[in-house]
Amino acid sequence: MNGNEENLSSSVQTGLYRVTQEALNNIVKHAKARLVRVEMEITHPGKGTLRIRDDGQGFALHEDYGQCCFGLSGMRERVAEIGGELTITSSRGKGTTVTVSFQATN
Ligand SMILES: Nc1ncnc2c1ncn2[C@@H]1O[C@H](COP(=O)(O)OP(=O)(O)OP(=O)(O)O)[C@@H](O)[C@H]1O
Ligand SMILES: [Mg+2]
Repeated sequence: MNGNEENLSSSVQTGLYRVTQEALNNIVKHAKARLVRVEMEITHPGKGTLRIRDDGQGFALHEDYGQCCFGLSGMRERVAEIGGELTITSSRGKGTTVTVSFQATN
């Protein structure tokens, strides 16, 4: 944690919490990771980046999970609700990083 989390609105805090929860769920369920890092940096009041990174087995992002499950699409909705941006990078054998960029909303 880097920066002052008191600057975050409660809706942003809740959104970030839910995304972190599902990202960690997915790591426990799918990743077979040895190392997990959760990092948050707040650069300006209400604005920053949250990153959840694992060194597990990764997965192919181009596969369509729309029918089977709700975790990734739920994350996307959560982040859209708070006006943030979600980026997931992953590749087989190289782990997964979930990044949320967020900024102050009114
Ligand atoms: N950190 C991760 N490491 C490896 N694979 C992952 C990771 N996160 C997601 N996946 C893959 O992406 C798929 C879709 O994830 P998603 O969270 O949408 O569904 P789920 O976890 O299978 O089910 P649900 O979240 O609905 O209980 C997973 O089934 C898994 O194959
Ligand atoms: Mg899931």
